[in-house]
Amino acid sequence: MQENNNLYKGIILAGGAGTRLHPITKAVSKQLLPIYDNPMIYHPLSTLINSGIKEILIITTEEDVGLFKKLLSNGEEWGVKIDYATQKKPEGIAQSLIIAEKWLNGCKSILILGDNLFFGPDLPLLMQNAKNNNHGATIFCYEVSDPERFGVIEIDKDNNILAIDEKPKEPKSRWAITGLYIYDENASTIAKDLKKSERGEYEITDLNRQYLEQKNLNVVYLDKDYSWLDTGTHETLLEASNFVKDNGIKLK
Ligand code: G1P
Repeated sequence: MQENNNLYKGIILAGGAGTRLHPITKAVSKQLLPIYDNPMIYHPLSTLINSGIKEILIITTEEDVGLFKKLLSNGEEWGVKIDYATQKKPEGIAQSLIIAEKWLNGCKSILILGDNLFFGPDLPLLMQNAKNNNHGATIFCYEVSDPERFGVIEIDKDNNILAIDEKPKEPKSRWAITGLYIYDENASTIAKDLKKSERGEYEITDLNRQYLEQKNLNVVYLDKDYSWLDTGTHETLLEASNFVKDNGIKLK
């Protein structure tokens, strides 16, 4: 019998229409755009590889999957195995766990969004520790000035998590939930029971809320030694390129 208990596989979700970046993303997938000297997806790929992940599923659109295959092939160049799956319509981040269910084959997972960039001195160590300490699910939070753009946590004075909200008009903290998640082997089953939100998506925040209700949601607070860049707007896309250039960040 295959021993899957402690094996983590990685999922990169690189779908979506990238409408906020039109016309740049009209003909090219957002996650293939340059971040200074590399395609954006190299960054989440490195984050997974630095977390000790050896098998990675890239989920993208039917239209774009050929371009990702051209860039990354079977992953040999990176020393990992890369497979591909498609998301027919952009119906939410949680849907990626349903799409990946068979491929995961009962394994635990680290899910990362293809447009989320993480930098920090001990990121590999931080990820290894988070994996080892994960019971249920783990989210990674980062303090921002505009939390209403993200999933946001509500915490008590001891940093215990009380609630999570998706893009709240009145955020209960400045801690945004980043696009990096660790899940136990139950995530796909839980995801299948979710209902679509008002914006027509299977929300990752709803999945994480299930773990919270079961008292199985862990939080890692990324302090200011770390940088989290999401590249959803023209400004943040440019900022990310400048960050990589100015800090001399090298991949591989
Ligand atoms: C998604 C998640 C949100 C999270 C964000 C991180 O937002 O729904 O909780 O904070 O990614 O990038 P979306 O990109 O779908 O607006």
